[in-house]
Amino acid sequence: MADVTLDEVVALCKRRGFIFQSSEIYGGLGSTYDYGHYGVLLKNNVKAEWWRAVVQERDDMVALDAAILMHPRVWEASGHLEGFTDPLVQCLGECKKRWREDHVRESQLGDEGAEGEISCPECGGELSEPMQFNLMFETHMGPTRESGSEVYLRPETAQGIFVNFKNVLQFSRKRPPFGIAQVGKAFRNEITPGNFIFRTREFEQMEIEFFVPPDDAPEWHKRWMDERMRWYAELGIREDKLRLREHGPDELSHYSSATSDIEYLFPMGFSELEGIANRGDFDLRQHAKFSGEKLEYVDSATGDRYVPHVIEPSAGADRATLAFMVDAYDSEEVEGRERVVLRLHPRLAPVKVAVLPLVNKDGQPEKAREVYEELRGRMPAEYDTGGSIGKRYRRQDEIGTPWGVTVDHETMEDDTVTLRDRDTLEQTRIPIGELGAELERRLAEPWTSPKSG
Ligand code: GAP
Repeated sequence: MADVTLDEVVALCKRRGFIFQSSEIYGGLGSTYDYGHYGVLLKNNVKAEWWRAVVQERDDMVALDAAILMHPRVWEASGHLEGFTDPLVQCLGECKKRWREDHVRESQLGDEGAEGEISCPECGGELSEPMQFNLMFETHMGPTRESGSEVYLRPETAQGIFVNFKNVLQFSRKRPPFGIAQVGKAFRNEITPGNFIFRTREFEQMEIEFFVPPDDAPEWHKRWMDERMRWYAELGIREDKLRLREHGPDELSHYSSATSDIEYLFPMGFSELEGIANRGDFDLRQHAKFSGEKLEYVDSATGDRYVPHVIEPSAGADRATLAFMVDAYDSEEVEGRERVVLRLHPRLAPVKVAVLPLVNKDGQPEKAREVYEELRGRMPAEYDTGGSIGKRYRRQDEIGTPWGVTVDHETMEDDTVTLRDRDTLEQTRIPIGELGAELERRLAEPWTSPKSG
């Protein structure tokens, strides 16, 4: 099992303003969350690292930002109107709660497709026959709610990519193999959301649709599995907490010929972080059929034409953020006191350096402010004068700040400061003039979690 509980992470998120229950003053709204200052900075860093890895550091990928609301025919073509359903059962006993039948089967019979009797997980009551429940949120476009005005909040960002295939092909000067990357909100009316930001009704996806010549699809599928596993590991997730799991035939989505999930050992057990599917030519063919547009690649030199196959690495930005926090959470005893620390990869940390005057007098606050103002142009920094130095360090440890700079009486004499390392607690003396370059050097270094091994 993981070495931290979800409750500990949730408490830290609230205590330090990472993530709050949505609409809290009205009692909260089921399984929707708001991100506060440090949560926004952390999730932005997760997304920025994704953009860096999949677009900036490659030649074969372009970016897209499609609208959340799309033509309703998109969802007919994609199969979501018909098939994006979960089997819903209701307790006929005392509690009347609703459950996902496949989840109850998995927890009570060991497999989501297993035959056999199941009962209400809450009160043991009998369960109703399953009913297929569509997960798409419906709304209306225009001033009246007449029939024909229904539109849907997208349940995945992927369809925005498929319907733009022709536009991108025309303007990007790319040919298969190439991909389109997108980050954006998706919405699902989940029957049983839960586990904090693991499964919510509104969430962010980071999706790639990678278009390849049909014969090359299996090889690209493998390449993307390796690539995406590497991304999580390079950003500090311990490798023994990550695994790749292939879907069985009864688990595959209607569009997929093969899917593997990258799973992380969350406090509730190994669970999906990202799915990597071989979608074949299902989506382009469906949209060609429903829209009447030709969605294919034509090689201008040879005249060859084909419908590319698609490899889809589809990750959740909120789930990844939760995994990075769970993996980073640590507590230890230092000088007889408990120290809670988020051992985040420095590139993911919301704040890279905190500048703290040792005492609030003798010119130290002014000097610290000067150092801070010079550093914040180079990296996210914080200046903190509130409370004892120990209390300020504890705060920075809990938000995962990798380095702390202390301005003390010696600074006022020789322009040197103390540089403290979050993980080793090592303190070194360094001239102020060298500080920015030294921190940038450390930030660029490969990093391994001190919790490994
Ligand atoms: N386009 C393919 C697709 O959407 P998915 O496996 O349903 O595939 C991809 O979703 C990723 O989106 C998941 O691996 C997960 O990280 C994230 N995700 C899906 N549903 C979610 C939810 N209700 N809350 C938070 N993240 C979710």
